[in-house]
Amino acid sequence: MSHDLDPAALAATAAAAIAELTGVERHDIALTLGSGWGRAADVIGETVAVIQADQVPGFHASGVPGHSGTLRSILLPNGAHALVIGARTHFYEGRGVRSVVHGVRTAAAAGARIMILTNGAGGVDPAFKAGEAVLISDHLNLTAASPIEGANFVDLTDLYASRLRDLAREASPDLQEGVYVQLPGPHYETPAEVRYLRTIGGQIVGMSTALEAIAARQAGMEILGLSLITNPAAGLGEDPLSHDEVIAEGKAAEPRLAELLRSIVARM
Ligand code: HPA
Repeated sequence: MSHDLDPAALAATAAAAIAELTGVERHDIALTLGSGWGRAADVIGETVAVIQADQVPGFHASGVPGHSGTLRSILLPNGAHALVIGARTHFYEGRGVRSVVHGVRTAAAAGARIMILTNGAGGVDPAFKAGEAVLISDHLNLTAASPIEGANFVDLTDLYASRLRDLAREASPDLQEGVYVQLPGPHYETPAEVRYLRTIGGQIVGMSTALEAIAARQAGMEILGLSLITNPAAGLGEDPLSHDEVIAEGKAAEPRLAELLRSIVARM
């Protein structure tokens, strides 16, 4: 596929393919649904079209169990169109940062002004319990990478929009918020690394989202970030970490997370 295109051109090509395959010319908001969040696609509105992600330029079939590998166009009750990206490329897949943020750039090219990024993550702050959804207030990007190429000095203050966080708290007043740390993965952290993350102000740790948020900001979108705490981070719980545990915690939380996202999106 057209990988010789620059990132903006590839995103524009992908957006055109989505418009053609879904029959929806323009999408107003976009959601990337990570571990535990997939069921939201069934409840936020009426599905207009589902397409396999690998039919769209620049997307790949998901390499991660628990991710759907589809793009879905949904008509929201207020008449807006949502694009649900169930095909996230992770940094650890080794396809490069351009691939990691292609979904976000495509959503922006498809018209989306709001980007909702969700994930499953480890709890570094012991106040956050497994099974809980936490708002992302800010991030620490520890990937040593940026999606931005060249001399583009993009501001990242209020990256996770206070306006959208306030709106999420209207939907669910008990939501706590915390600083998300993105590490490259795919290995989990050592207990020493988790203590370090806590020392430098991290409260949630995962392998996605921060790079995507930076690209979304560059594209001028407003960003909402939400993490499902799937496990206490390494050294804080009883058990060794496993992807199966992450998936199981996600499955158990799915109906609650779906309802949470439905009531947040209904306020947008
Ligand atoms: N660390 C990193 N990524 C994760 C974790 C974790 O503990 N849980 C789910 N994704």
